[in-house]
Amino acid sequence: TALTILMILTAYLLGSISSAVLICKLWGLPDPRKEGSGNPGATNVYRVGGKIPALLTLWFDVLKGMVPVWGSYFLGIEPFFLGLIAVAACLGHIFPLYFHFRGGKAVATALGAMFPVAWEMALLLIATWLVVFKISKVSSLAALITVCLAPFYAYWIKPQYTVPVIMISLLILWRHQSNIVRLTSGQEKGFKRRQ
Ligand code: G3P
Repeated sequence: TALTILMILTAYLLGSISSAVLICKLWGLPDPRKEGSGNPGATNVYRVGGKIPALLTLWFDVLKGMVPVWGSYFLGIEPFFLGLIAVAACLGHIFPLYFHFRGGKAVATALGAMFPVAWEMALLLIATWLVVFKISKVSSLAALITVCLAPFYAYWIKPQYTVPVIMISLLILWRHQSNIVRLTSGQEKGFKRRQ
């Protein structure tokens, strides 16, 4: 329906707002696309500016996934389309309309999109990320292991969302190509401030 299309577009446009770039600009920090890993995400904002701007980036990236899915849920949109709206928010983050289509990896946005429809799963994903991060201190590794497990969690907890979760997991894996190369060659810098 027209409403569903409108919400898909809204999700993409909200996802396109790069919190990392805007917060670094407001904070007077270097552009995260040009420093550290070059990724406009909370991890790299931590590298360039520390905890507070990183947490703000994380929060706004989560929020832009959460808001369109929550809104759509209340508007009575069907689960299958809620899944597509979540994918659209992630695509906005990855290919932002306002930032020359060069965005981030969509980890936080995917998590935010999960909350309104599957909060148990979102909590399980956070727990998984935290456990891997605690052990490894490497944000990308935590994200990679979490997204590999996400489809199984979905199948187990919210089977109706398995397909969109697989789509989002594949997108996130694909966006971590350079991290995978660095991890396998022992070059990944993890979470250290400034590389
Ligand atoms: O959420 C992105 C994270 O998994 C990796 O970020 O900056 O280390 O490539 P980064």
